Amino acid sequence: MKPRVPEHIASLIPYPPGKPIEELEREYGIAGSIKLASNENPLGPSPRALQAIESAVGRLHRYPDGSGYYLRKRLSEKHALPFDGIVLGNGSNEIIELAIRTFLLPGDEVVMPAPSFLVYKLAVQTMGGKAVHVPLKDFAIDLEQTSRAVTPRTRIIFVNNPNNPTGTIVSRAGFESFLDGIPRETIVVLDEAYIEFNRDPDTPRGFDYIDRRGPYVVVLRTFSKAYGLAGLRIGYGAMNPAVADYLNRVRQPFNTGHLSQVAALAAVDDEDFLEQTRNAVWEGMRYLYTEIEKLGLPCLPSQANFFLIEVPVDAKRVFEAMLAQGVIIRPMNSYGMSRHIRINAGLPEENERFVKALKLTLDNLKSSA
Ligand SMILES: Cc1ncc(COP(=O)(O)O)c(C=O)c1O
Repeated sequence: MKPRVPEHIASLIPYPPGKPIEELEREYGIAGSIKLASNENPLGPSPRALQAIESAVGRLHRYPDGSGYYLRKRLSEKHALPFDGIVLGNGSNEIIELAIRTFLLPGDEVVMPAPSFLVYKLAVQTMGGKAVHVPLKDFAIDLEQTSRAVTPRTRIIFVNNPNNPTGTIVSRAGFESFLDGIPRETIVVLDEAYIEFNRDPDTPRGFDYIDRRGPYVVVLRTFSKAYGLAGLRIGYGAMNPAVADYLNRVRQPFNTGHLSQVAALAAVDDEDFLEQTRNAVWEGMRYLYTEIEKLGLPCLPSQANFFLIEVPVDAKRVFEAMLAQGVIIRPMNSYGMSRHIRINAGLPEENERFVKALKLTLDNLKSSA
């Protein structure tokens, strides 16, 4: 007998988690594999964050500071944000969920690009909301169609800039005229998880819009990518304090851990590490684009630390063949793109190994065809 569960929960398709690397290696009888599948930082964690963690472990018997005072204070100084408008989260994922739990009634609509980050629709469905998908136009978010998809039941709109999985950005003028056309009571969540990697000056800086009095803009930032702290789970939302006030009512009192807070606080000012990370990513992307082009595979220009490559067969087959060589990539089937794989820039030796493995995979597929 199965437990009784509402239909909108029973029909959820869980986020594809992936197995631990150690398990995959055991299954495939390989060692020393590399992972370019989750858009993580190839350099490791911020060294300043590691130091901060070392000196903070002695306090683990205490609950963390539920207000995240020092981290919020530093973020508000650094980015000129209202202190009361910053909400910390267990990864920026938690802020996605918090915004939905705070503003959505069952049956309400949330407009989002498709394909985009899978967690948006999962979180909406979990709350019994209706995800309204607006197809990308030439792989980029179509803000005109997005505003046309708004109805009186729309509570939240997601804009992902740069967009995962395409790495495309929206223009500043396009975003501003989009905001002007959106009903004032709507929440626009601008997810900037990868904004530190963007090099195009013609894109909005989300923090510039949070003092609008509708539509309210909630900007998401994370320490998981450019700061190398994905394993700690810490991110934040920056918004009008009136919006933050509601999120704080829904938020668990101790939602971010002590080590996460101190590590993030140290990472915020680790400018050297941020610069090294950006340079490593940009150099990695340049190398990968050049090599993939030589292989004759179409790939998409990206402002993030990852990009999409079109493959001549089902992406899952490419994934399996690469895995057997110890190279873990993301097949995009779960995003509805069965002819695309997504990879992030790794260390130079990882990038080289990826290119070799992809070349071998394509050669083998050709000769077996
Ligand atoms: C677009 C986007 N937003 C948010 C996140 C979540 O990041 P985190 O919860 O680690 O802060 C990710 C992670 O992959 C992402 O791709």
